[in-house]
Amino acid sequence: MTSVGVLIGSLSKDSYSRKVANYFTSLPSNLTFVELNYSILPLYNPDFERTNTPMEWQAFRKAVDSVDALMIVTQEYNYSIPGGLKNALDVLSVPSPNQHLMGKPVLAMTDSAGEKGGIIANAHLHQILRYLGMRVMNCTIAIGNVQSVFKDGQNHDPHLAQQLKQDIRDFERFITETNLPAEACIDLHDHFSYQPGKELALLNDNGDKIATVAIKSLNGNVVSIEEVSVSENYRGQGMANKIMTMFMWLVEGADCQVEAHCQFAKHYFETHPQFKNFLL
Ligand SMILES: Cc1cc2nc3c(=O)[nH]c(=O)nc-3n(C[C@H](O)[C@H](O)[C@H](O)COP(=O)(O)O)c2cc1C
Repeated sequence: MTSVGVLIGSLSKDSYSRKVANYFTSLPSNLTFVELNYSILPLYNPDFERTNTPMEWQAFRKAVDSVDALMIVTQEYNYSIPGGLKNALDVLSVPSPNQHLMGKPVLAMTDSAGEKGGIIANAHLHQILRYLGMRVMNCTIAIGNVQSVFKDGQNHDPHLAQQLKQDIRDFERFITETNLPAEACIDLHDHFSYQPGKELALLNDNGDKIATVAIKSLNGNVVSIEEVSVSENYRGQGMANKIMTMFMWLVEGADCQVEAHCQFAKHYFETHPQFKNFLL
């Protein structure tokens, strides 16, 4: 059974984010959900990494290591994610780069009393999770008017009910499909060089190119992937996947579309379905 740790952004006992999480986790799936409560975590302070590391940090990191994936449901506080949730993510982000979130699949959703469903917090959360090297399911679930839609813990919006049913099925598939070893993920300490419209390269400590994606700008916001290559000494270590993932993050950030003109890139999109919707 695949286990999913649930982080809820609100500490309120009557939280609507919790109601959404309870509803979502009760939908039909083969996933087992367990809440990972982070409310007792001391605020992150790097001084306590070497000595007197709080037991709560250690226990929480172990709990996250023990699950296959994470799901985060949060409300928006002041145009971002709540401080407690950010603290929990900060605690999990250390030690770097072999931290506890790297490569873990995650589904993020937001809700709010207003119409926009906490979309700003949603975007911030996606950005943080991607920065941490998590495998973020590529979807936007932002539930507006949460207090009326989930007024007694039930979902009163039939359209949303249909969408969430599909989302949980997609999430289950996403976890299995992306069950690649964490090493296949981007190490954020790697060095890169980027020449827009020409090349993205991963560099070693001497500045030599380890892997490159050769690109060409086409009309509009379209980039063609001409070739993905890895220097001989670095083959067989997942470098081509690494550089492609880095490239797709750039594409995502620039709101571009891509054409795959080489065999490897075509294969990459088969094995990384989260990026398929960027393909023309
Ligand atoms: C301190 C604070 C800041 C808030 N900031 C926002 C905000 O920026 N955007 C928004 O849509 N709602 C905001 N809200 C409203 C919450 O999203 C709303 O009350 C939500 O339902 C609370 O979530 P919960 O029921 O899970 O605790 C804020 C609420 C509080 C208490």
